[in-house]
Amino acid sequence: MSDCIFSVRNLSVTLQTGLGLARVVDKISFSLQGGEILGLVGESGCGKSITAAALMGLVLSPQGLVTADQIKLGDKNLTQLDEASLRRVRGSEISMIFQEPLTALDPVFSVGSHLSTVIRRHRGENRRQALRSSVDMLERVGMADADRIMQSYPHQLSGGMRQRVMIAMAMACRPKVLIADEPTTALDVTTQAQVLTQLSELGQSFGTAILLITHDLGVVAQACDRALIMYCGRIVEEAPVKALFGAPTHPYTAGLLAAVPRISTGRAQRVQAIPGLVPHPAALSDGCHFANRCQRADTRCRTLIPNMRSVDGPTNSHLHACHHPLEHSCHAD
Ligand SMILES: Nc1ncnc2c1ncn2[C@@H]1O[C@H](COP(=O)(O)OP(=O)(O)O)[C@@H](O)[C@H]1O
Ligand code: SF4
Ligand SMILES: [Mg+2]
Repeated sequence: MSDCIFSVRNLSVTLQTGLGLARVVDKISFSLQGGEILGLVGESGCGKSITAAALMGLVLSPQGLVTADQIKLGDKNLTQLDEASLRRVRGSEISMIFQEPLTALDPVFSVGSHLSTVIRRHRGENRRQALRSSVDMLERVGMADADRIMQSYPHQLSGGMRQRVMIAMAMACRPKVLIADEPTTALDVTTQAQVLTQLSELGQSFGTAILLITHDLGVVAQACDRALIMYCGRIVEEAPVKALFGAPTHPYTAGLLAAVPRISTGRAQRVQAIPGLVPHPAALSDGCHFANRCQRADTRCRTLIPNMRSVDGPTNSHLHACHHPLEHSCHAD
């Protein structure tokens, strides 16, 4: 990939859980280009937030062990930087937003104070310049009344407005990469759609690559260019969103899609939940972790880990990890 901005190779995270040591992220790899939005999708507990925390350097030993062959941001390999250099990178070249902005906003400081502090720290602007830049960022995330918002305190804003402030803060330094962990999950659908549109527009105009973490396939359909499907800490399918929705090849992806209610027929449709339960990460068996819920599973699946393979030949844009994938003859490219 020529203008790849962020590249992760074989990232793993092992945590101490109540049931013992667990590999909660298992050798995941992906790349991101400037301006694109890559979805990281999967059911609750599959390892999405831990992946984000590991990429931000927020999983600390001895509770957690992070290993990776490479986490490359521009020309820097983050696995080889010392803590001081990593701190400089965090917040300026790679930033993150969370589901609940209130946890990241200090109730005693105004929005203007939050934003201008970040801008002064990372962009070296003086007070007046930073205040002007803060107003500009608020306008860019769709806040028409930016001067008033600057004076407001976090608790005076709605959830959607707080998330816009977080996006403004995270994007103020024009980071190369933004990791957004369920940023719209707490919002109503209309606000969610607006926030996703603003995030996407800002990402494109700044050339920022966005890793959008969500459990919601509707969010993927609306906002993402490509998506990674995660199950029990592993990536099981990667594809452009159109191909993923049009012709999923991994049985787990197909199961997720079948579990989404559709209203296009005008009649209520019966949705098909995936049978069985997600195994605990400390009690994973050999082979494919989906085997206990998969109708196609055989002895090979239960003993041999399926590797990621290309579905679309040398194009290499659609990959899956499955011994007995679904047909993909109606590939929707
Ligand atoms: N601090 C922690 N200590 C031990 N286990 C954890 C911790 N945080 C998360 N886990 C476990 O790691 C797995 C992945 O969690 P997480 O990344 O939060 O999932 P997701 O974001 O996909 O819902 C889960 O099984 C969860 O219980
Ligand atoms: S590898 Fe086997 S068990 Fe796993 S998803 Fe594919 S067919 Fe099912
Ligand atoms: Mg999470």
